[in-house]
Amino acid sequence: MSTYILGIESSCDDTSAAVLQDDTILANVIANQDVHMKFGGVVPELASRSHQQNIIPVIHRALHDANISKKQLNAIAFTRGPGLMGSLLVGTSFAKAFAMGLNIPLIEVDHMQAHILAHFVQLKEQRKPVPKFPFLCLTVSGGHTQIVKVDDYFKMTLLGETIDDAAGEAFDKTAKIMGLNYPGGPLIDKLAKQGNPKAFKFPMPQIKDLDYSFSGIKTSFLYFLRDQLKLNEHFIEENKADLAASMQYTIIEILMKKLVKAAKQEGIKEIAIAGGVSANSGLREAIKKGEKKYGWNTYIPDFQFTTDNAAMIAITGLFKYQKGLFTNQNTTPYTRSIFK
Ligand code: KG4
Ligand code: ZN
Repeated sequence: MSTYILGIESSCDDTSAAVLQDDTILANVIANQDVHMKFGGVVPELASRSHQQNIIPVIHRALHDANISKKQLNAIAFTRGPGLMGSLLVGTSFAKAFAMGLNIPLIEVDHMQAHILAHFVQLKEQRKPVPKFPFLCLTVSGGHTQIVKVDDYFKMTLLGETIDDAAGEAFDKTAKIMGLNYPGGPLIDKLAKQGNPKAFKFPMPQIKDLDYSFSGIKTSFLYFLRDQLKLNEHFIEENKADLAASMQYTIIEILMKKLVKAAKQEGIKEIAIAGGVSANSGLREAIKKGEKKYGWNTYIPDFQFTTDNAAMIAITGLFKYQKGLFTNQNTTPYTRSIFK
């Protein structure tokens, strides 16, 4: 008999609901919130208000797309954290009430663990290979940059992480400095395709072990542009593509350097990437090149599973369901990463 899990994600600015039949996705609905665009970043109060408006239609749509009734659901999985408190509360409260109403188990999911486990979601049309344990995952999003050793679905060890900005923030801030909209990552990616990655050089951070830092390049980019704009007020406009390509190249160099170091240190050749920045075409290419260069087997998620989505919450929910790892109605969200 199949297991049907409803996943609910509301940690930041995307409201998402997904339905899985075992490990196969039946529906994955995502409502983005355009309201933040003009502010150049996510406004927490507006995010939670939008979640409240979106959550019922998004869940309704997911059940409709999956072509199942709510009575067929075996469990409800929701993001407990990390994320924005007001946003998390909407998903958490809804999940609690819905599970209680249907009298089915409630399962709490860690958002960062879920980004990694997104690799185990299968599409209806065709099954794909999944990473073999132990594997390394570079999780790169708007809020986090982590290298995680994954020994099992629930045995994950943090090997390194950013000490300041996340990689996604580096992309978004680069875009903001250039006068582009939020989120800037996809816009930089698009511009970079027409630019020369070696046109401008930015300093690489010197951070110990497997940790990262992205605040230095942001500052040097800002000062570099300030100096250039004094000489030519059209500098950004005239060099848009080269600036995007050079910054993207630098961010990817920084990410890859520590990932290669971690793979050597751990003696692991199963390499995955996850999170919003794993949608970046330059990063996807760089990881893929690791197959020839270092003998890696690489796992690059489908675009729909890179940025925040509820399919990753549902698959994590499925693995917990199989182990009977349920939560109760007293659960409350947490805002900070629980990875140690
Ligand atoms: O995982 P995610 O959707 O949300 C968080 O949990 O943070 O990641 C969002 C981040 C944003 O910083 C966005 O600019 C970045 O992922 N992003 C990209 C691309 N697509 C999304 N960064 C670079 N290139 C992309 N194509
Ligand atoms: Zn995320």
